[in-house]
Amino acid sequence: MEKLRVAVIGCGNISVMHLDSIKAFDDVELVAVCDIKEDRAITASQKYGGKVYTDYKKMFECEKLDAVNLCLPHYLHVPVAIDAFRAGINVLSEKPMSIKYEDAVKAVETAKECGVLYGVIFQCRYNAPSQLVKQRVMDGKLGPVKCGRTTLTWYRPDHYYDHSDWKGTWDKEGGGVIIDQAIHSIDLANWMIGSKPVEIQSTLHNRNHDIMVVEDTGEGLIKYENGALLSFYAMNNYLCDEPIEIRLLCENGKAIFSYGEAKVIYKDGSVETATNKPEDMFKYTGGKDYWGFQHAVQIRQFFNAVKGEEELEITGEEALKIQNIICQIYSNNDNPFK
Ligand SMILES: NC(=O)c1ccc[n+]([C@@H]2O[C@H](COP(=O)([O-])OP(=O)(O)OC[C@H]3O[C@@H](n4cnc5c(N)ncnc54)[C@H](O)[C@@H]3O)[C@@H](O)[C@H]2O)c1
Repeated sequence: MEKLRVAVIGCGNISVMHLDSIKAFDDVELVAVCDIKEDRAITASQKYGGKVYTDYKKMFECEKLDAVNLCLPHYLHVPVAIDAFRAGINVLSEKPMSIKYEDAVKAVETAKECGVLYGVIFQCRYNAPSQLVKQRVMDGKLGPVKCGRTTLTWYRPDHYYDHSDWKGTWDKEGGGVIIDQAIHSIDLANWMIGSKPVEIQSTLHNRNHDIMVVEDTGEGLIKYENGALLSFYAMNNYLCDEPIEIRLLCENGKAIFSYGEAKVIYKDGSVETATNKPEDMFKYTGGKDYWGFQHAVQIRQFFNAVKGEEELEITGEEALKIQNIICQIYSNNDNPFK
């Protein structure tokens, strides 16, 4: 059996989750790694293998690739994805898809025109607790969500921003806590609710990060077609990364979700729980815990989909739903992309 020929573009923090996963798969070969900072590509190549490139366009010309994993600053995801699609390469992009919604739509359309797959990482959906809540809303045991709230209180000190040439900027990151961190908590709650947002209210503030111009705090309300209301609150002025919390009040009970575990309490008093099992989490990678080690699970599904063996769940079309919400949260507020 021929191995899938894969490259990783962007060899910074998150690339390790992708590289560890690729290394663990027998049917996938890491053909190349690419970073404009050559030392980062060399370090990745020394540990994981693959030819070193500093120019992804040259890499597309020189290598026959089935797929690329994009681990780039936000503003580069769409242009690099589109170049890959046009070279006939399937793309798995880190979140977010883009800074502007219309760019993400263009990427989805281009992937379709080129007949290639476009996946977007939202690994938190693959955790056992997330899956339990989603399933119980969808199969009717919990029934439709009436009302919910989600909170994210994380820690991003000044040095997180001053060590980066793109984080904390409007043009390269596209925002702060909402587009980078709370995209996970809002995506999870929105996916669990599973209805269409019809109105999004929001306010953004920078309360404690003089070092940057974007927001470190955001809150709002999303109203859904089915009548559900979701309140969200996010800030990165806390002293540590607390687990994301989601509470959903549903027709037949409530869900209390806090990353590592979910508890579903039905109106008849019965309870169902799910937790992340360490043995599942460490199956593929031993890297940093990004609230579960489900990167590898999603990356595996993407490669299976490239091989035509499994349906890709978080396609570009699917990821447009959260991209639309994130972009609307910003468009309600005073920012350069209004
Ligand atoms: N899913 C998650 O939980 C999670 C967690 C962390 C980061 N991320 C996402 O991963 C992406 C990368 O974040 P990061 O923290 O690794 O950033 P980073 O700055 O550490 O890494 C980005 C890398 O891209 C390289 N790069 C920039 N321009 C390039 C180009 N034209 N060609 C090739 N390489 C280029 C940079 O030199 C850098 O090494 C972001 O979208 C971020 O939101 C996701």
